[in-house]
Parts: sequence; C-alpha cells; structure tokens
Amino acid sequence: MNFSITSKSPETVKSYTVVGVFEGQKLTQAAKTINTASKGTLLQNLKARKFSGKAGESLELTNLQGTKSKTILAIGLGSNKCKVEFIQAIQNMFVRVRATGETEITLYLPELKARGVSRAWMIRQTASIGTSVGYKYQLRTAVLDTKSSSSSAAKISVSVEGSQSTNDRDYLAQGNAIGRGMNLAKDLGNLPANVCTPTFLAETTAKLGKLNKFSVKCLSEADMKKLGMGALLSVSQGSKEAAKLIHASYSGGKKKDAPIVLVGKGITFDTGGISLKSSGDMDEMKYDMCGAASVIGTLLAISEMKLPINVVGLIAAAENMPSSTATRPGDVVTTMSGKTIEILNTDAEGRLVLCDALTYAEKLRPAAAIDVATLTGACVVSLGKVASGLFSNNDELADEITQAGTVSWDRVWRMPIWADYTKLLNSNFADLANIGGRAAGSITAACFLAEFATSYPWAHLDIAGTAWISGKEKGSTGRPVPLLCEFLLNRASSK
Ligand code: BES
Ligand code: MN
Ligand code: ZN
Repeated sequence: MNFSITSKSPETVKSYTVVGVFEGQKLTQAAKTINTASKGTLLQNLKARKFSGKAGESLELTNLQGTKSKTILAIGLGSNKCKVEFIQAIQNMFVRVRATGETEITLYLPELKARGVSRAWMIRQTASIGTSVGYKYQLRTAVLDTKSSSSSAAKISVSVEGSQSTNDRDYLAQGNAIGRGMNLAKDLGNLPANVCTPTFLAETTAKLGKLNKFSVKCLSEADMKKLGMGALLSVSQGSKEAAKLIHASYSGGKKKDAPIVLVGKGITFDTGGISLKSSGDMDEMKYDMCGAASVIGTLLAISEMKLPINVVGLIAAAENMPSSTATRPGDVVTTMSGKTIEILNTDAEGRLVLCDALTYAEKLRPAAAIDVATLTGACVVSLGKVASGLFSNNDELADEITQAGTVSWDRVWRMPIWADYTKLLNSNFADLANIGGRAAGSITAACFLAEFATSYPWAHLDIAGTAWISGKEKGSTGRPVPLLCEFLLNRASSK
C-alpha cells in the first residue's frame, strides 16, 4: 500500500472516503463536515439503517448529496475510551476496503483522545495495520521479492487533525515498515519446513542485508564447533540440514554505541528428536522458527526506518530430527560457556540452541539482549494466545518491554525466574539438566537460559502462544515484531 498525508476537507474528496462514528451515533469532525455538506443526510442514513457506531460496525453510503465522493464508508469507533476499539475499527476498515477492490482511498482518522494515545501512535498503527491486514500467504521462496508480494498497490491518503507536519510522514513510513516486517515474519513462519531450512533462513537474511544495507555473516557447523557450541550442535546432529548461526549487524548508531542484541530461536522443524512428539498437529512445529522470523522481520523494519541505533540479530537455526545420529536422552554436552548439560529430553531443544547463542552474545557487549522463542507448551497453558511470556534479569528492561507491549498492543506478561525454580534443573551428571519436570515449565526453561545470560541486561520472550493461530485460520501472526519495533523506536528516541 502507498500511504500519504492529506489535509483536504472530506466533502471535497473524490476517492472512496472513510469517516468514523462513535457509539451513540456521535459524529467525528470529518463525519460532521460531511453531514453538514449533505444537509443532514449522513445522520438520517445512519439512523434509518440502525448504525450505532459500535466497534466492528460499518456502513457504505453512495452518492450523498453535497459530497464529491461516490462512496462514503462509515466505520464504528466504539466508545472512544480505549485504543483497542480504534485498532479493531482500523482492522475492520481495511478488511472492508480491500474487499471493495478500491484503489484510491481517503481515510479520516478520528480525534482519539484516549489516554496515552499520541498522534504518532495513531498514524503508525493505521499504516502498520493497513500493511499487515491484507497479508496473504503464497508459496513463494522469494519472500523478499516485492513484485510477487501480496501487498496491494492501493493509494491510501490519511487525513490528520490540524496542520500536517513532516513528522506525520515519518510516522506513516514507520508504520508501513513495521507492517512489512510483520508480513516478512509471517511469510517465513508459514513456509513449510522443506523450504524454510536453516540454510534458507541464512540466505534470506543475507539477501535482506544486501537490500537494506546491513551486514550479515553466517557461522557454519565447523565454526560453531571451534567455538565450543556443543549444545547448539547437539540439536542439529540428527538432521541432514546443517545448523546455522546467523549474525546480522544493523549499524544505524555511532560506532561506540553498545548494540541491542535480538536472539531468535530458529528451529525450522521440531519433531522432538528421540523424545519424539505425538503426531497430532505436529505440522505446527514448522512454526518453531517464529522467534527467528520476528528478529528478521524487525531487522527489515528498523533498517527501513533507518533508526539511529545499533542492533544485532542472532539467529540460532537448526532442525530437530530423530535419527541414528541424533542426541539420546541422557547424553551430556559441553556448552560454549563451559557449563555441561545433561539432555534428559531432546524435545527441550530450544534452550539448547539459545544458550550457546546467549554466550556468543557476550562478546558483543550488548546494552541489552532479548531472546524470542516458541519455547514451551507450558506458556500456552499459562497465558494462552493473548500475551507472550516475559522473563528478565533486569527490572528496568522488563518494564520497558512491558510498556512497549501495551503501547503496540502486542502484549507481554512477566513471570519470575527465582532461584527456587532454577533448583529444579539440578542434575546428578552435569551442571544443569535441560528440563525441570512438569511444574512451572516455562519458568524453568527461562531459568535455564538465565544461567547463560549473566553479563548483560537480558529478557526472554516466550511466544509459543502468540506466534501463530491454529485451526481454520491457521497462520503466523507476525508477533512480536510490533513490540520489538516499539521498544527499538523508544530506545532510538531516548538517545
Ligand atoms: N517448540 C516446543 C514448544 C511448543 C510446544 C511451542 C507447543 C508451541 C506449542 C519446544 O521445543 C518443546 O517441545 N518444549 C517442550 C519442553 C518440555 C520437553 C520440557 C514442551 O513444551 O513440551
Ligand atoms: Mn521441542
Ligand atoms: Zn521447539
């Protein structure tokens, strides 16, 4: 979609025009203007067709007198008390507008005075929702090929309150970049595991780096062996697909600025290994690389926004397969940190690839590191598909991430990583076991990771519940790209 800012008065606009109405048929400024121009016909129509303005409602009106546009779409905005209703209204609006096939649309944003919602937020949300709502999956391995991309060529003019500024155009471009980042994350998540292999992730990241001018290097299994990454390599050793550690550096900041490191779990398929999963819904384990996909999507977004910060994306990519060369339950491996791990369950593989990536991150001296992983089924049990699990060794960082999640409406909920839980990982045969039993499964997984993220502010996002939707609407959500982008936008502007 092509977004631009306009300041035309709504009754003078020729293109398909969208105006908002609050609950109780309370007209927004733009709707009032149209109502006046049409000598009250707008309101008469709303009344006659019982359109109240609830979030989710919409009504198309054609050839209203006194207006230049052939069609005006009234969108219900709800109570104007909370921003969720605005998000729903915008989603609803883009779904409707896309269905009409209109190519030129003028959108009048409401005067939304809900607490904590800024002009920047409203414009960004509009552009990111507009860009991501129309996402359609197609099997295409050239995920970065914009020509074959499903994004429509519709021209969207966005009208804002008061006089326009260059900032408004920046907000639009930022929202658009976030939406595009989400779409890339969705594409990567939705691709089947026979296409989206660790090598494919590495090639895609390298291509993106070329296009958007950030550097990408990729460590091979031999490189990782030299670094002593025994845990990461124990996951890929049962698969013919070679593991990759992808190291992408976006340098928008000053040379001396410590980077934010984003670490993504990139298990391109998780069978469980020798601790084989049951077969029901096992296809969904192609989504076990959604953490990696969100890191790559975020790299796309921040490089398009040209944020003045340094960000490193580290992707630990491997396939978890059972075979005669696979790791056995009871095997002990040595990590890059020197700590040994007794692998009691080969299905707890995410933490095995991440722990070596977290040790590798140490030498980058991060300002903060955030890992993103579809780590535990237990997290789906505790938080469902609404919030991602947040774990952190640093309260300020945790608060910053929580706040970014609320603002972007890509929410997280913090859980503890107390030593009482870490105890559950005690092993008779190594420094740590890779599982802690049935109780508190997502917490013990996070405690395991915390043992390796000891020298920098660190947070872990368990996105097992939020990264994809199951059932009829099965597909990747693109989360937590909005959260990560909001977090990084804040870091960039607080400099
Ligand atoms: N990728 C899974 C976690 C998962 C399961 C995400 C279901 C989304 C839906 C992870 O590798 C895994 O298998 N975790 C195990 C850990 C257990 C063996 C301690 C789990 O959650 O069952
Ligand atoms: Mn697993
Ligand atoms: Zn997994």
